[in-house]
Amino acid sequence: MPDMLVKLLDLPPLAPAVERAEAAGVRIRRAQAFEITPVRSFIEETWGQGWSDEVSVGFANKPVSVYIATSEGCVVGFGAYECTRRAYFGPTGVAESYRKKGIGAALLLACLWGLREMGYVYGIIGGAGPTEFYARIAGATVIPDSSPGIYTDLLKKKA
Ligand SMILES: CC(C)(COP(=O)(O)OP(=O)(O)OC[C@H]1O[C@@H](n2cnc3c(N)ncnc32)[C@H](O)[C@@H]1OP(=O)(O)O)[C@@H](O)C(=O)NCCC(=O)NCCS
Repeated sequence: MPDMLVKLLDLPPLAPAVERAEAAGVRIRRAQAFEITPVRSFIEETWGQGWSDEVSVGFANKPVSVYIATSEGCVVGFGAYECTRRAYFGPTGVAESYRKKGIGAALLLACLWGLREMGYVYGIIGGAGPTEFYARIAGATVIPDSSPGIYTDLLKKKA
């Protein structure tokens, strides 16, 4: 999977994306340090320990560089930045039953604005899966020759 580049100077505004998520009954907000366990559990249940470990790094940043989507007191999505490497976005995920409601877009833009506020001019989406989604929401472009990127020589999972 390739890495993608996002020009942070040209980001679309965040507010309409957050409002769309809110209209679907979902709040987009920065995670709190005391929410590490439920956020990690949510990620691990669907996407495994690796993603959960990556996001843990964001909880050590101040401000915390992890956004979550919440509904009725539960985590239904997450997005993280400045975790895996500097200026990196990811990982991110939305619970299957909450997809296609604008939640992933709101999480992505919240994180990219977070990178921009740190002073970065470009953000990197490391090992991008849904490249069309990133291109559409943030104008991201595939970086030539970027695969394989950092996700090589991976440790084997224990049975
Ligand atoms: C990728 C993901 C986060 C998108 O979340 P989502 O909440 O469904 O996305 P949104 O509803 O905000 O999508 C915004 C727009 O992009 C489109 N879109 C969503 N996923 C897409 C995809 N994989 N390819 C192309 N377009 C996509 C939506 O149709 C939507 O269009 P609309 O604005 O006309 O309604 C979600 O599908 C997911 O969790 N996937 C599994 C984990 C994953 O692959 N993470 C990325 C790792 S790099």
